[in-house]
Amino acid sequence: MAKVTVVGAGFVGATVAQYICGQDIADVVVLDVIEGLPQGKALDLFEASPLLGNDRKISGTQEYADTKNSQIVVITAGIARKPGMSRDDLLKTNANIVRAVCKETHKHSPDAIFIVVTNPLDVMAYLAKQTTGLPANRVIGMAGVLDSARFQSFIAEELNISSEDVKSMVLGGHGDLMVPLPRFTSVNGIPLNELLSAERIEALAQRTRDGGAEIVALLKSGSAFYAPGVSAALMVESILRDKRRLLPCSVYTQGEYGLSDLYIGLPIILGKQGVEKIIELKLTKDELAQLRKSAASIKENIDAMNKLLVTA
Ligand code: APR
Repeated sequence: MAKVTVVGAGFVGATVAQYICGQDIADVVVLDVIEGLPQGKALDLFEASPLLGNDRKISGTQEYADTKNSQIVVITAGIARKPGMSRDDLLKTNANIVRAVCKETHKHSPDAIFIVVTNPLDVMAYLAKQTTGLPANRVIGMAGVLDSARFQSFIAEELNISSEDVKSMVLGGHGDLMVPLPRFTSVNGIPLNELLSAERIEALAQRTRDGGAEIVALLKSGSAFYAPGVSAALMVESILRDKRRLLPCSVYTQGEYGLSDLYIGLPIILGKQGVEKIIELKLTKDELAQLRKSAASIKENIDAMNKLLVTA
């Protein structure tokens, strides 16, 4: 049975672990700096296994040695932005956490594929690749699966149909400048613009761009975790079961879409090698302009992070 390490036993990490065990995908080790937290959540999940009908091993730990020889490492460790905290403070704090986590997990699982969930997502995925020195296909960021799921949910609700039949692509960075693509969105093959007006589509696309903030505003403290957790777990499943799903994920660009040396959401085939292939769609001028704008903003943040880490 494959072994997956989930770093961070918070809301997102626990949801990732629950889905992976519940769906019988792999054994899970959850690691967190808070003593007892991963152990408690792991024990609770273990006690749910007769109810969920799985026999997966799950354990919690503070020791990186326990994560050794994992096939996949999912990184959810980090802090959320607190009132009074600048974006740079958050960037620096999470960058230091992700860098330390990457060093330790990579040491014990040199062959693992990394899935990064910690925000700011595209920048943290870049840092994970930089820190581990792994090839681009083995370090992937989770964002597009979540953003697409949000877009799909809003479309299904608007049309009063099952979300199962809605497929969509949201590319670009995981932030305000993400690029929902209505042209690549359909309801069981029916192009979206056959079913909804351009105005309604744009309204749903905007709600998708604001999807994370909408939840933060409701929760007051903390951010989304059910959909992010399941999104990361589905990526784990596609890799371990070599399903070769075609999904939008944050990946390292080397000339694709005219972009290089950054992480950004693009359509990929996700299989046992991680990123099996990046799909290059023919985008319209406007779509490409949106993607480039998003890329420029990510690049700025990567530069800011590199400066902050040098002065750390
Ligand atoms: N090593 C291991 N775990 C750590 C470390 C570290 N160095 N630093 C922090 N953690 C743990 C915290 O103890 C906490 O349990 O990471 C966990 C984060 O959990 P939550 O605060 O509940 O945050 P969560 O909602 O799970 O979000 C985690 O995912 O979607 C993103 O923006 C979100 O960056 C955030 C991350």
